[in-house]
Amino acid sequence: MPVPRILILGATGGLGRALHRHLVTRYETTAWGRADLDFEQPDTLAAKLAAQPFDVLLNAAGMTSPDVCEVQPERAFLANAVAPQLLAECCHARGARMIQFSTDYVFSGESHDLWNETDETAPINVYGRTKLAGERAVLRASPSALVARVSWLFGPDKPSHPDNIIQRALQTDDLSAVEDKVSVPTSNLDICGWIEQLIIRHPTTSGVLHLCNSGIASWHSWAEAALEIAARLGLPVKTTRVQPIKLASLTQFKAQRPLMTRMSNARLQSLLGGEIRNWHDALEHYLVQKYQPK
Ligand SMILES: NC(=O)c1ccc[n+]([C@@H]2O[C@H](COP(=O)([O-])OP(=O)(O)OC[C@H]3O[C@@H](n4cnc5c(N)ncnc54)[C@H](OP(=O)(O)O)[C@@H]3O)[C@@H](O)[C@H]2O)c1
Repeated sequence: MPVPRILILGATGGLGRALHRHLVTRYETTAWGRADLDFEQPDTLAAKLAAQPFDVLLNAAGMTSPDVCEVQPERAFLANAVAPQLLAECCHARGARMIQFSTDYVFSGESHDLWNETDETAPINVYGRTKLAGERAVLRASPSALVARVSWLFGPDKPSHPDNIIQRALQTDDLSAVEDKVSVPTSNLDICGWIEQLIIRHPTTSGVLHLCNSGIASWHSWAEAALEIAARLGLPVKTTRVQPIKLASLTQFKAQRPLMTRMSNARLQSLLGGEIRNWHDALEHYLVQKYQPK
């Protein structure tokens, strides 16, 4: 197979930045942000894409804040469902492959051990409903497309839960985090490696695929793990203990959050033929790179 030309959308976001940095050194890679292609101007998408050569489109763009989506559902639908459908139609027409990033929030979050790709979806907020509409529209418009569901991202390109809790623990020992919300924290850098393999070694894999690290965490255990690693690395955190609280006690959210959205990565493991590392190992790797770079 000739070396694929890759177009990344969402280049100013956490995952988009990581993908660009990883892929640009090895492949002909272009990265676009909102200024290059605005999903809220759907009439412009087809012409802009037509002018750009590419074989693989990675769509990491979208409206990703559940609370913003909840209060702006029309904009969320444009960004998360209408635009991805138009992109998929363009990809299908030119024979390009589309990889659309989606979310564990397509699941209800009701008591469940591990969610598989074939399990029933039942999102409980606007973000999840618009992302699910996007998944379905992409797969309908382009049967060769891959929908890559990810969960609880962390990495060097955008502060997330572990970064925020460490910053807070440098100031105070009065910390709390939700213990009854469960999923799998996932390294953006690991996703970059998996995506490269999916592009190069699995060019015909399509449908829905869960891309997440192994293991299970709550916002609470994820927070304590980050603090324990930070303390071991010598950061002057004031505590490694976090008070566990219930999601229902947080009243500031506009959107309801699903409780149990831990996804199975069995399909990914069997495709890649190796073990997917635990989120804790990936978190430790990330924090060592951040606080003790060689
Ligand atoms: N972060 C997570 O924990 C998480 C969990 C599950 C699933 N996901 C999924 O993973 C993917 C990447 O997430 P992320 O955390 O990297 O997202 P992010 O950091 O919020 O980045 C989103 C990107 O989309 C762009 N964007 C937003 N609205 C747009 C519009 N109307 N037109 C064009 N571009 C627009 C943003 O541009 P601006 O910078 O201009 O706003 C940014 O480049 C998304 O599909 C998300 O749903 C993320």
